[in-house]
Amino acid sequence: MTATLVTGISELVTCDPTAEGADMAGRAGVAGTAGRAFAAGGAQGADPLGRLVDAALVIADGRVVWFGRRSAAAAADRRIDLGGRAVLPGFVDSHSHLVFDGDRAAEFTARMTGARYDGGGIATTMAATRAADDQTLRALVGGRVAEMRRQGTTTVEIKSGYGLTVEDEARALAVAREFTSETTYLGAHVVPPEARGDRSAYVSLVCGPMLEACAPSARWADVFCEPNSPHAFTEEEAYAVLSAAADSGLGLRVHGNQLGHGPGVRLAVELGAASVDHCTYLSAADVDLLADAADTTVATLLPGVEFSTRSPYPPARRLLEAGATVALATDCNPGTCYSSSMPFMIALAVREMGMSPAEAVLAATVGGAKALRRNDIGRIVVGGPADLCVLDAPTHEHLAYRPGVPIARTLEV
Ligand code: NIG
Ligand code: FE
Repeated sequence: MTATLVTGISELVTCDPTAEGADMAGRAGVAGTAGRAFAAGGAQGADPLGRLVDAALVIADGRVVWFGRRSAAAAADRRIDLGGRAVLPGFVDSHSHLVFDGDRAAEFTARMTGARYDGGGIATTMAATRAADDQTLRALVGGRVAEMRRQGTTTVEIKSGYGLTVEDEARALAVAREFTSETTYLGAHVVPPEARGDRSAYVSLVCGPMLEACAPSARWADVFCEPNSPHAFTEEEAYAVLSAAADSGLGLRVHGNQLGHGPGVRLAVELGAASVDHCTYLSAADVDLLADAADTTVATLLPGVEFSTRSPYPPARRLLEAGATVALATDCNPGTCYSSSMPFMIALAVREMGMSPAEAVLAATVGGAKALRRNDIGRIVVGGPADLCVLDAPTHEHLAYRPGVPIARTLEV
């Protein structure tokens, strides 16, 4: 087993406020809080980012085996000097739709000159995805996952949802499974055009034979619960889909409150979903529900969607101040946000949603991990996987300070 000593770390952001380390930096210097789940882990007044300056870490067998002050580091078999760069946990992108073929640039352009998004374009991607062979889909997903890694993402959740037949949904999940264990069955993305005459038959298919074919390759199930779109699912339909999925042993996630006020948040909290995603339009009651459910249901914000659909941004400050647990993710998909960049989401969260750089980094790492009910990722801990992101910059603040500049990448040892 080869041990690698990584030095030249100007700022080691562990995202663990309880991190043991000499001279932890910036205890008083971090603005804001990061929500109840993060504050709960640490002592009062601790730096939520758990930062260490002038740091080093040792990696062996793909795990972090030591970190601390550079001056305290022992020699190792190999050494990598980062020359004054920040190191963070790899980003956890807890929401993406990477299994698709086709292009909807024209739909984006139309939106930029006033057209509204209502989910209708999903059928265009569905047709292109059904027509693609397995090899093509595999290559497309592999290319997108590689693009994410080049920007610092080490864990990605991938949904189906552009097949919408038993065979095409099962195939999408089998391809997704080749790249991640965080796979999500989204047969209830929209009612496909050929099923529009009989919605209830389609919901039965999603709850029955399609679920049965997809469950073996899925960890999660999701539903686009959106009464404001004629293509998506009502509260009753979403309840049926989620209940059937839970009975099959899948964890639950919900696309909710994206296009207007609605039942998505309430349903997600009621059913104990791990996450409700979008949360663009929230009532005071929705915010209270998410705050009360902070240990169960994460509010996952997808600001690339608001950017790419010219919509108002989600009320991140209201959520954080109420004590909800917040995650940031890309939602990378061909319709509402064709960006794979977690750094871009962080920049949007800071500039457009009033989150501090620290809050945004926490939401993009430990928040995403919590949305996937994972304790092993999203933080740098001794014994944990060496899923790390390195910045061509001295501190995490540069993620928002240098928008659009490719400063983040995964640390390959
Ligand atoms: O999360 N809202 C539903 N699904 C995706 C968009 C899918 C598409 O337009 O292709 C989303 O925004
Ligand atoms: Fe989505």
